[in-house]
Amino acid sequence: MAEVTIEGVSKRFGEIQALDGVSLQIEDGEFFCVLGPPGAGKTTLLRTIIGLEQPEEGRIVVGDRDVTDVHPGSRDVSIVFQNLALYPDKTVYDNLAFPLRQQKPSIAKSEIDSRVRDAARILRIEPLLRRRPAKLSGGERQRVAIGRCLVRAPLVYLLDEPLSALDALLRLEMRAELKHLQRDLKRTLVYVTHDQVEAMSMSDRLCVLDRGRVQQVDAPEVVYNRPTNTFVARTVGTPPMNLVRLDVEVNDARLDLRSPTVRLQAPSAGLLEAVGGAGAVELGVRPEDVRVGSGAQPAHCELRVIAVEPLGGEVIVDLDLDGRILKAMTPPGIAVEPDEVVPVAFDLSRVHLFNGDGRAVYTAGGEAVLTGAG
Ligand SMILES: Nc1ncnc2c1ncn2[C@@H]1O[C@H](COP(=O)(O)OP(=O)(O)O)[C@@H](O)[C@H]1O
Ligand SMILES: [Mg+2]
Repeated sequence: MAEVTIEGVSKRFGEIQALDGVSLQIEDGEFFCVLGPPGAGKTTLLRTIIGLEQPEEGRIVVGDRDVTDVHPGSRDVSIVFQNLALYPDKTVYDNLAFPLRQQKPSIAKSEIDSRVRDAARILRIEPLLRRRPAKLSGGERQRVAIGRCLVRAPLVYLLDEPLSALDALLRLEMRAELKHLQRDLKRTLVYVTHDQVEAMSMSDRLCVLDRGRVQQVDAPEVVYNRPTNTFVARTVGTPPMNLVRLDVEVNDARLDLRSPTVRLQAPSAGLLEAVGGAGAVELGVRPEDVRVGSGAQPAHCELRVIAVEPLGGEVIVDLDLDGRILKAMTPPGIAVEPDEVVPVAFDLSRVHLFNGDGRAVYTAGGEAVLTGAG
């Protein structure tokens, strides 16, 4: 059993609060992603789990062992660093064998050999064992770095943006391979990335981290469909979710939500408490939930087209909404031109409302409480 429990962990570097009361429960055998922008504290979190940083507060438990004060080498956790460092003057074989040769008590030569060959087989780098890193492609070098992590057969693997140095096609391939590998190994894996597509496509669950704080922990589809705040809402999905500022007025049995060009309403009973009365909210609408042109019935507003971007499988239409860009993702073949004014409708069964602090206060979840107002 190797679940990882992180309990109220805080770590500061001088003025910078790199981790701020982080608590996570990572399950045994789970592919767990930590997603966040550069500087969010992702690397610090991994370094804290493995023991290269000592938190000022909190506990780290691996399996049923509290390892908070245990030496990094004795935690049974293995890491692939962001800037993968292979020994340039050692062969691939020796790069893989090195972590094992360092171990105390020492491991028999034959055992090292079989573990190196096992890792090489799993990662399909057997033909490369005699080469040096300079003679490898980016993807091959990446595999060797992962191999160095595999040979030790730890309870928990930590991977810090292992694919960020690779080109797009190779990243795509390696994503699928890593996912497979983790399934086969059935080990707990914590994978750090700033790439939302990686996190969404690979993880069983993911954690969104911002400025050292956990914003949300959920399965990818939950993070996508029910983001807890505007930060999470705009972190997953491309193009990101549109946010439209609306003033809220309470009129007897009705709530009016308005911007200069958008007018929506709702029976107040349903929403008033969530929204917290009069004031302002942000309406969150994903680009795929914005209809444009003849398909936009009944329309909620008429907007000027700024740009049309055909992407092959779909078309992104940029629209001018109150002086800001609203992005719509439409099927290909849509007949709209820049500068044209077109009807636009939101799929109100899929919208979100966020309060002044950016916290989600309402998610439609398939049932439209909001309607257009004439
Ligand atoms: N050794 C260090 N000394 C000073 N500041 C650090 C150190 N390590 C990280 N930081 C700071 O802590 C914050 C989080 O860093 P990091 O964990 O590397 O973020 P991420 O991996 O998400 O990009 C950043 O502001 C970074 O500059
Ligand atoms: Mg980092």
